Amino acid sequence: MYHANTNEIKVWDRFVRTFHWSLVATFAVCYLTEDDFMSLHVWSGYIIMILLALRFVWGFIGAEHARFSDFVYRPSMVWQYTRDVLLLRAKRYIGHNPAGGAMIVMFFISLILVSISGVALYGADEHAGPLAVMMSGVSESAEELLEEVHEFFANFTLLLVFIHLCGILFESLLHHENLLQAMITGRKKE
Ligand code: HEM
Repeated sequence: MYHANTNEIKVWDRFVRTFHWSLVATFAVCYLTEDDFMSLHVWSGYIIMILLALRFVWGFIGAEHARFSDFVYRPSMVWQYTRDVLLLRAKRYIGHNPAGGAMIVMFFISLILVSISGVALYGADEHAGPLAVMMSGVSESAEELLEEVHEFFANFTLLLVFIHLCGILFESLLHHENLLQAMITGRKKE
């Protein structure tokens, strides 16, 4: 949507913004609670899974810049764009740029792996959750492996968050715009 008086256009729809900040909050809760507050940890994890499922659907039916077709690029373009960023000559995108798009795909994959391993571990370790029956007989070593996988992808997601924040800061400086503010208001300068 074009705002005639302000030269601003609507980029992130309400769903994308709500999804984003809910994901930030629930990921933070999950990461910080770990073993200590199991039910809070598990419920935040379930909310993350619901958020991912809804975002997946929105990737096909959402507004222009929310769609996968708008931000999933060929690997060669992602690589070329990343090189252009490092050479300070990257072009500005109104929606997600190719590197940002690749980051979203990696967030998705990593969060799905944390979630699945988490639900399986909850079944094996606590005999609870939707996989309780299926996982109740698994061996000690399988449970340990699940725990390793769960922790690895939780930490990998945190690493992605760090790269994500560096990317946002760097791109904001490079293109003289405030991307954080855009994810709050939904609007960017044309
Ligand atoms: C305070 C910390 C954070 C800030 C300031 C922030 C900011 C942003 C901004 C500005 C964008 C839009 C990027 C663009 O212009 O292309 C974005 C997108 C995104 N961020 Fe973050 N982010 C934060 C934390 C996180 C965390 C913790 C996660 C995941 C665990 C995350 C996942 C995502 C995803 C998946 C998108 C794509 C949104 C969509 O299209 O649905 N962010 N973030």
